[in-house]
Amino acid sequence: MRRNIVAGNWKMNNSFDEAEELVTDIAEYLEKNPVDDAEIIICPPFIYLEMTTDVSAESQFAVGAQNLCAYDKGAYTGEISAAMLAGLDVEYCIIGHSERRKYFGDTDEIIAAKIQQALKENISPIFCCGESLAEREAGNYKEVVQTQIEEALANLSADEMDNVIIAYEPVWAIGTGLNATPAQAQEMHAYIREILLENFSIAIANNTTILYGGSCNAGNAKEIFAQPDVDGGLIGGASLKANEFIQIITAF
Ligand code: 13P
Repeated sequence: MRRNIVAGNWKMNNSFDEAEELVTDIAEYLEKNPVDDAEIIICPPFIYLEMTTDVSAESQFAVGAQNLCAYDKGAYTGEISAAMLAGLDVEYCIIGHSERRKYFGDTDEIIAAKIQQALKENISPIFCCGESLAEREAGNYKEVVQTQIEEALANLSADEMDNVIIAYEPVWAIGTGLNATPAQAQEMHAYIREILLENFSIAIANNTTILYGGSCNAGNAKEIFAQPDVDGGLIGGASLKANEFIQIITAF
């Protein structure tokens, strides 16, 4: 179902105390100022998930993980399964982030398996795609994103696609302070809907939530979110400060 979403991806940041203060500040804001035109998702590191879901149980935001294991269960030392996340009331999971692709070897095949695991446990994948700077400069960025989407999602049913959120995150914009312009974001989001139309249906193309990520902050969120095919943002650095994150969740 298509809706406005702002999701905070904390990545590997914050001590436990900082994490607790940040979620508490956001929950206190939402208690006084409910946001009715956007869904808010906080994606902390694994070990803060339980604390975060405890706070979210009494608040308006939902909780997502940043990764999960491609396998069901068993001898996979250090991994966390989709079922374990579901048991903690985690409703979303970022899958296929470019940092996982780059530093941890997440291939299109592994990403597709992780999406299956999430869906099996009723966890909505926030599937990330996006081209590198070299790919943008070479002019083949649309093909790159098309391949990423088709490899990860093309085998899903229409019902399954209903639970998938796509985040377009150009790698050159992540953590660089160099966001895509609203026009660049719009061009790619519209193109992603064309890919969905080709592979699925007009309904899925129109009804899928597509977020923009990459140096999105309090200063540029409003203009980016105002683009017709942009449904919100996946926010990294700017989700680590309560004040700035609050300005972003109220930018619709
Ligand atoms: P920044 O907002 O820090 O650029 O990170 C974006 C991102 O990777 C969100 O997943």
